[in-house]
Amino acid sequence: MAILEIIQYPDPRLNTPAKRVEKIDAATRKLIDDMAETMYSAPGVGLAATQVDIHKQIIVIDVSEDHSDLRVFVNPEVTRREGVAVNQEGCLSVPGIYDNVERAESVTVTALDRNGARFTLNASGLLATCIQHELDHLQGKVFVDYLSDLKQNRVRAKMKKRQRKAA
Ligand code: NI
Repeated sequence: MAILEIIQYPDPRLNTPAKRVEKIDAATRKLIDDMAETMYSAPGVGLAATQVDIHKQIIVIDVSEDHSDLRVFVNPEVTRREGVAVNQEGCLSVPGIYDNVERAESVTVTALDRNGARFTLNASGLLATCIQHELDHLQGKVFVDYLSDLKQNRVRAKMKKRQRKAA
């Protein structure tokens, strides 16, 4: 396995919409495994392929505390949204920035798993938030996009300053 480089906001590659995965082959499974390892090592609770500059509809999520609940979503689609919940979110592509985002409180999602089997999942709470956050990535959207223009400008300035320092 390998740790992949995570693209940092406001890199425009984060705005690339992901394409559907046509076939889950050995290369797809290797990518899934590398994404999981990258997420765990960050550490984070979710990662979309978009964030490692691969524009395919693949998400990995594990909201457990002991890394025991890895969930893989290939070509995910939300078929039900219910309720409203506001939660503080962060993102591995926007490290150190956290803010409230309003989303559906519960969702139903259908997707393919690592073996290409279709499944349907009803999720609420942190898992539902995480699924919606990662699905946004596949559409080229980052949670910062939900914040006010003022906040977005602040986040952008902070990130650019940090990237200049690191360079
Ligand atoms: Ni994110």
